[in-house]
Amino acid sequence: MAVLKVTKLGNPILREVSKPVDLNLLSDPDGDLQTFIDDMVDTMHEEGGVGLAAPQVGRSLRILVMECEDSERYPDRESIPLEVIINPEITYFDEEKISGWESCLSLIDFSGYVPRSKRVIVEGYDRNGNPIKIDTDDFSAIVLQHEIDHLNGIVFIDRMPDLTKLSYQEEFQTFWAEKETAPTQP
Ligand code: NI
Repeated sequence: MAVLKVTKLGNPILREVSKPVDLNLLSDPDGDLQTFIDDMVDTMHEEGGVGLAAPQVGRSLRILVMECEDSERYPDRESIPLEVIINPEITYFDEEKISGWESCLSLIDFSGYVPRSKRVIVEGYDRNGNPIKIDTDDFSAIVLQHEIDHLNGIVFIDRMPDLTKLSYQEEFQTFWAEKETAPTQP
């Protein structure tokens, strides 16, 4: 187990398009990808996030992890089982949008109000290289869109139509938390 250092906004790796993973390396006994995936999960748990993308821990690879189980931080959120997705692609975006407050381990001080598609279909591979397809909506769809954005060099503030709703966490709690849904912290 290892908790990795989370990259913060300003680190150029967060603005790169991450490289596709060679699926053969997932089962390479001399490779480190399985350990790296375990470390991503450990880091997400340690930092209290519900999702994490590889460039957020310093590797430009198309890997994301997500999970939200019995979160003390997000007691009102639906639970999301642990998912590891390699080379994820969004193959369907619902035209219907939902907006909510998001934060990010790479912009830990901030929350912002972001519109997302209500439902998405994501195709990719599990950590053993088997194809997977996830059809989901609401909270887990938001987390997926947020994390896949990271793989394309995009952070949540880029998606905000109205930057006047960018808030420090303390101000968010003071001025917005009562009025809107609680922030997600992918
Ligand atoms: Ni993030």
